[in-house]
Amino acid sequence: MHLKDQVALVTGSGRGIGQAIALALAEHGANVVVNDVVEESAEQVAAQIEEMGVAAMPVVADITCEDEVKAMFTAVMDRFDQIDILVNNAGITQDNLLMRMSEEQWDTVLAVNLKGAFLCTKAVARPMLKARRGRIVNIASVVGLTGNAGQANYSSSKGGLIALTKSTAQELGSRGITCNAVAPGFIETEMTGRLSDEAREQMLGRVPLGRPGQPEDVAGAVVFLAGPGAAYITGQVLIVDGGMVM
Ligand code: NAI
Repeated sequence: MHLKDQVALVTGSGRGIGQAIALALAEHGANVVVNDVVEESAEQVAAQIEEMGVAAMPVVADITCEDEVKAMFTAVMDRFDQIDILVNNAGITQDNLLMRMSEEQWDTVLAVNLKGAFLCTKAVARPMLKARRGRIVNIASVVGLTGNAGQANYSSSKGGLIALTKSTAQELGSRGITCNAVAPGFIETEMTGRLSDEAREQMLGRVPLGRPGQPEDVAGAVVFLAGPGAAYITGQVLIVDGGMVM
């Protein structure tokens, strides 16, 4: 229970990896704000968390819209008067070959995966600076390090998110705020459920641990980076991929 009485906000936590992160933070004692664009999902996960004996607050907000992001953090401060942990998890894919990728596909993916994380980080910085403490964890991807054919938009957004992680770590470090990234490999969620059997087999063939990752595998790394054991770690990228990229 090393996160007892802390308040965490996880973007896009209505399902998938974000949901697992929200539940794991709650398991360690944190009160959790469950953000998503899908109201029903946010409410379901918040109800699941309340059953664990900590407080949960569902907030519907589109992280690409600064007004909605600001209103979300104002509502969190009104309710809890503190925010200790931000996990920028919400992310989308719209894959296509570079030559066929539309301007809209580029803009939409960059807006959620990179601008959304920037807006949330900007909004959380003030209360964290005031408190002189805070943990920010960005969910990037191994393709942000390696690139990936068919994912120019997504891999660029994740590479940008890694650079945002390091800039944030440098700007906010002197006030006791850490910022790190977790870079998952192939994790079984609805996002990867769309892959063909062939693509899945090909991906698994590159994983030394021989199995796809589960959302809980990513959540474990986030709990570590949000906890006391990671107090002197900032600006780092922790790869959680069963050894796929090394
Ligand atoms: P998912 O598609 O299952 O869940 C994403 C959640 O984010 C959904 O609940 C969705 O409603 C929400 N969301 C989407 N746009 C939003 C917005 N504008 N504002 C607020 N919420 C929004 O995805 P999954 O697989 O759980 O991925 C979570 C994160 O992990 C993403 O950033 C993804 O890029 C990253 N990741 C996933 C990997 C995988 O293999 N599944 C691998 C590497 C990284």
